[in-house]
Amino acid sequence: MRILHLSDPHFGAERPQAIAKLLACVQRLRPQLIVLSGDITQRARPEQFRAAARFVEQLPAVPVLTVPGNHDISLYNLPRRLLLPFTRYRKLFYPQIEPEVRYGDVEVIGFNSAPRWRHIDGELDLDAVRRRLEALPPRPALRICVFHHPLDCRRHQDQHNIIHRGAALAALLSQHRVDLVLGGHIHDPMMRTSAHRYPDLDYAMVLMLAGTCVSRRTRLGAPNSFNLVELQGEELLLQRWDWELDRPEFEPVLRTGFRRELGRGWVLTHKYRYSDPQNWLDPP
Ligand SMILES: [Fe+2]
Ligand SMILES: [Fe+2]
Repeated sequence: MRILHLSDPHFGAERPQAIAKLLACVQRLRPQLIVLSGDITQRARPEQFRAAARFVEQLPAVPVLTVPGNHDISLYNLPRRLLLPFTRYRKLFYPQIEPEVRYGDVEVIGFNSAPRWRHIDGELDLDAVRRRLEALPPRPALRICVFHHPLDCRRHQDQHNIIHRGAALAALLSQHRVDLVLGGHIHDPMMRTSAHRYPDLDYAMVLMLAGTCVSRRTRLGAPNSFNLVELQGEELLLQRWDWELDRPEFEPVLRTGFRRELGRGWVLTHKYRYSDPQNWLDPP
């Protein structure tokens, strides 16, 4: 099972060259499912949603699950933001804001973490999340939750971007045996277990963030990128692919492996940097 995780394309601030390179690369990778974790547009303008829809049409013809980000709500048009925050998103880009996809043994549940009154910070209604998780059919082989805002981050200066009540949300997801949580927002890829920030959870989850796949809004040390998820039995392999401006194409830069242990959840098995084949990083 192979899942492509894209995030933060920010149409309106996109790099046409990155789009061409990404589309070429993704065709070769042949994912079976695609997740797009928000900030689809730069300013929620109609032409930006239309450009995003054309981009999605050019991706491989497999199920696509997307959730909105804070940039997908009109920033300056206050009446629109308060009364019709997702009308353009639904009409021009994707019909649902909290979709669900089940593909074989994999279940993906999308949440909207960009409420209209908080146009940058993320928040989820924990009671609504609980009700939704409780209503799910029996556990699949892999349960994935997707929302735009991060539950964890690599850099200290990004901590203020962590979703509101992140600890309570992490506990809730863990109680419902969520395996993998996907997000974006800070444009800084990350793949590690919940044990770093939430060490007391009964069931450790894998937390993954994708960078910005095609926009100019990149950060130092985090060029345009996407992630690839592969489930092989009880092992999860996550790959980060980057495209630097001077390189001919997207290339894998990092691979991390996780194994599911009975009753404990996911633990890191290895980390491998492609730039340095000798550099296998053992789990802590
Ligand atoms: Fe973003
Ligand atoms: Fe964002």
